[in-house]
Amino acid sequence: MCRRHTQLLLCLFITFFINLPFPSFADVGTAAQYSPPYLPTGCYGGEALQFPSSNLFAAAGDGIWDNGAACGRQYLVRCISAEQPRTCIPQQIIQIKIVDYAVSTVSTPSATGTTMVLSQKAFQTIANSSAGLINIEFQQV
Ligand SMILES: *[C@@H]1O[C@H](CO)[C@@H](O)[C@H](O)[C@H]1NC(C)=O
Repeated sequence: MCRRHTQLLLCLFITFFINLPFPSFADVGTAAQYSPPYLPTGCYGGEALQFPSSNLFAAAGDGIWDNGAACGRQYLVRCISAEQPRTCIPQQIIQIKIVDYAVSTVSTPSATGTTMVLSQKAFQTIANSSAGLINIEFQQV
């Protein structure tokens, strides 16, 4: 890729569009998953009214929790790698809403200390559901 000078512009152009909607300012982190019951103990005073009907939501880890300001924020998330090859489902990007704090979820997340903990629906949309930990690229929208 991008070896010849004559191809450089075209190559940069293609690289830019392949990476949409994740331009270079997206962040890299990790994600676990958690199972029901989904009670937003960390956000909204524990009321479940704010859950998106898509069931694509997540609990924020300490890295993005922002002292509670993360509640309600939305992120584009995609799986970029995992310990087991072929764990990520290619071309899948989800938009999730933060509804809880990863440290206070009712059920125990599949891994601790991750950037975010995805609902089962969210996790299995971008990765093999039997995985416990994936590397993600994410960007607030
Ligand atoms: C998901 O991962 C498990 C365990 O690694 C594996 O047995 C299974 O075949 C994978 N499923 C898919 C659809 O790749």
